[in-house]
Amino acid sequence: MKKIATTARQRAAQPKLPGVSPLDRGRGRSSLTPKRPSEDTSGLADVFPYYAGFAYDWARTLLASQGLPRTAVVLDPWNGSGTTTLAAQHEGLRSVGIDRNPVANIVARLRLNSFTDDPIMVLPDAISREIEPLEEDPLAAWFCPTSLVRIREWGCHLSTLPIDECNLAYVALFRTIRALTRSFEGSNPTWVKRAKEPSELISIERAKFDAMVLVEQEFLATRVLESAEAPSASAQIATALSGALPVANNSIDSVLTSPPYLTRIDYAVAYTRELALLGVDISRDRSLRAALMGTTLIRSGTASDLSLGSIADSLLADISGHSSKASSGYYRKQAIQYLADLTQGLSEITRVTKPGGFLHLVVQDSYYKDVHVRLANICVEESELRGWSLVNSEPYAVRRTLTSLNKAARNYKKSEVAETVVTLRKN
Ligand SMILES: C[S@@+](CC[C@H](N)C(=O)[O-])C[C@H]1O[C@@H](n2cnc3c(N)ncnc32)[C@H](O)[C@@H]1O
Repeated sequence: MKKIATTARQRAAQPKLPGVSPLDRGRGRSSLTPKRPSEDTSGLADVFPYYAGFAYDWARTLLASQGLPRTAVVLDPWNGSGTTTLAAQHEGLRSVGIDRNPVANIVARLRLNSFTDDPIMVLPDAISREIEPLEEDPLAAWFCPTSLVRIREWGCHLSTLPIDECNLAYVALFRTIRALTRSFEGSNPTWVKRAKEPSELISIERAKFDAMVLVEQEFLATRVLESAEAPSASAQIATALSGALPVANNSIDSVLTSPPYLTRIDYAVAYTRELALLGVDISRDRSLRAALMGTTLIRSGTASDLSLGSIADSLLADISGHSSKASSGYYRKQAIQYLADLTQGLSEITRVTKPGGFLHLVVQDSYYKDVHVRLANICVEESELRGWSLVNSEPYAVRRTLTSLNKAARNYKKSEVAETVVTLRKN
């Protein structure tokens, strides 16, 4: 297959394509709290809307304030769109970012490449026209068969490129597919509807689709150039589980992370369309959904004899004893599974961190019905049980949460939930 890649600088000399508007280009300000403002653009936060990301300026300020040696290594075992790895890189600190969601890792790699002065774009002329439609294409939930052919031609071509040459084009495809399927989104940001009948399927001409992807690539290349900072430290991104980190013992100086919360956010469901583009059909293959922490699926074989601290134990007792339907069944099992993943992640963080190293956790409390899920306190207690000492715990009020978007959950009286930054030090 013929490959034609171009760089943003070469492309600038060519005429622009008319008539296609790129997605919203927010130009907001960042504040120094972990909560990422919705219009945030610092640290390329606007290149792709990753759910529950924290603010880049805040992460960078925190890492800068630690007085870490130049040889230090920073870890984020739930790295998402890569705010920690980017902030570390810009602070001249080596870093490792782990996430099980391949969509997150593509976005994280694009943001890390923001130091380049020549971002690589992929031109439509490079894309072969020889691909046959897939028989059971997961994107067929939104696109008609003829439109699917061109999307798959792009996907197939990108899968042949070296990893650092395809991130920008992949994120441009993510953005294009999001823009085209916007009418399938509801008020819950993590759920997307599927077409119920063929007339609802999106039909887009090949040339128009190509033009949209190109406009998105130009937007991303411009943003990358605007955000360029000299590279000063390496960052590695890996697709792996927080419960089995591919990281050596006692090798990490500082961990900055935000685990999934106990709010029934299913990260695989939230990125169904992007995963479909990558060939992962979460409606047929449940393995990715099941692997992610906080999933609403119950895996077989989750331990029911977990050894937990008193706060986590009393949460489980409150959930099991709640009078509402399925509390002692499904919801208890889901909470146990969540706590098993959280504590396994904390054990792994403990294994890989040097004595004297730091752990910064951004966590949000939530509610199960009227039961307060004190996640910050649970994280502190479980970390202390693994040999950490609390240094600081700073709460921030959170106004809009997924609970407040869920009508059934509003029936229970609750006080304001807090997001907390917990800092611990390994003994
Ligand atoms: C709250 S988000 C992190 C957001 C990140 N701080 C940012 O700025 O984009 C939590 C992340 O954990 C990932 N995750 C969930 N379960 C995981 C697991 N078992 N192993 C590794 N990553 C996991 C999700 O895919 C998601 O990206």
